[in-house]
Amino acid sequence: MAERTIPIADMRHVAEVPQVPERTAPPSGLLADRLGRPLRDLRISVTDRCNFRCSYCMPKEVFDGSYQFLPHASLLTFEELARLARVFVAHGVQKIRLTGGEPLLRKHVERLVEMLAELRTVDGRALDLTLTTNATLLAKKARALKDAGLQRVTVSLDALDDAVFRRMNDVDFPVAEVLAGLDAAIDAGLGPIKVNMVVKRGTNDHEIVPMARHFREHYGGGVVLRFIEFMDVGNSNGWRMDHVLPSAQVLERLDAVFPLEPLEPTAPGETAERWRYRDGRGEIGLISSVTQAFCRDCNRARLSTEGKLYLCLFASRGHDLRALLRGGASDEQIAGAIGLIWADRDDRYSELRGSGQAPVASGERKVEMHYIGG
Ligand code: GTP
Ligand code: 5AD
Ligand code: SF4
Ligand code: SF4
Repeated sequence: MAERTIPIADMRHVAEVPQVPERTAPPSGLLADRLGRPLRDLRISVTDRCNFRCSYCMPKEVFDGSYQFLPHASLLTFEELARLARVFVAHGVQKIRLTGGEPLLRKHVERLVEMLAELRTVDGRALDLTLTTNATLLAKKARALKDAGLQRVTVSLDALDDAVFRRMNDVDFPVAEVLAGLDAAIDAGLGPIKVNMVVKRGTNDHEIVPMARHFREHYGGGVVLRFIEFMDVGNSNGWRMDHVLPSAQVLERLDAVFPLEPLEPTAPGETAERWRYRDGRGEIGLISSVTQAFCRDCNRARLSTEGKLYLCLFASRGHDLRALLRGGASDEQIAGAIGLIWADRDDRYSELRGSGQAPVASGERKVEMHYIGG
């Protein structure tokens, strides 16, 4: 099916060099933004490349042979990433997720995992250290990732039907290999595993019930399947509201076959609403950023592969932390700069869009998902 895609202007370079406060103080771990939201979750993109071309993220027409991915010299090194991560953790971050593009394409990513696994939260605990992957390289890498200190992984999988899956990844990749990667992750002890399915009405919504059945029946509650509303991230995925299947309808379809009951949230600000099968065969999640925005408690910061900090998945401007790193700033100065940036944050894109307000200033274009991760 040919979908209209919109060529993207390159938003990757729109970033401000952060201001460093004149007087710095060590981070307190108690940062709050303008809406009172703490900083708890850091998502680090380690590459802007991917071996899939999912139409909702990296449509082939845009991300083709002529697309200029970031040159190697502009990527943060593992040492730079670990240094920034340490500063973020001192500011109160408790969870770090590695994303991409496809993070397992970054060479020796397990070395970065090893460095991050040494960090401790403000109150002395290990981080919740995780990674989002399309699982194509997971069978090869699961053991090394576990040994390096990764705690768990989240696998992106949009369909079980091989033809539907091959069409959605748009590189003809077979579903059986993704399932083998997922099993390797379970064997390596990288659970509890979450599986993220982006639901596009008319493309894979008929896979909702088969996906639920598969993970209920084969994994005995060991895999949490989450259904994600197709979002208007970036500028190139041809997003339309009629391609969104609201989570309420996902729930209705599932509940008719496998009765469900609601669960309490496990952490403030989490993305997924949790439900459990009444027969005890595990739980599912509904991620409804289009129909039920969850900006109110959003405690997530995103770091691009080249070291730009974004305060929202839908932001159009980043804050160039690499300029500070490579300009010789001290840890304390970088911490001070991050403190100022976070204190000034008022992003709540989904909430504004949901209430009919214009969430992006005219003329601004949003950052792309493969560049800052999901
Ligand atoms: P867990 O700790 O494993 O529950 O992870 P998570 O739900 O915080 O992260 P994950 O990357 O699995 O998020 C799943 C999906 O939710 C992403 O792929 C995005 O589609 C969406 N998502 C995550 N964070 C945000 C966010 O801050 N805003 C919006 N609008 N969507 C988000
Ligand atoms: N809508 C919703 N989720 C998306 N992702 C990427 N693009 C979109 C989109 N347009 C998420 C998916 C995928 C992860 C890498 O990013 O969850 O699994
Ligand atoms: Fe790659 Fe994930 Fe984007 Fe698909 S959604 S193109 S697997 S980064
Ligand atoms: Fe957070 Fe922005 Fe997502 Fe709202 S839209 S939950 S502010 S990342």
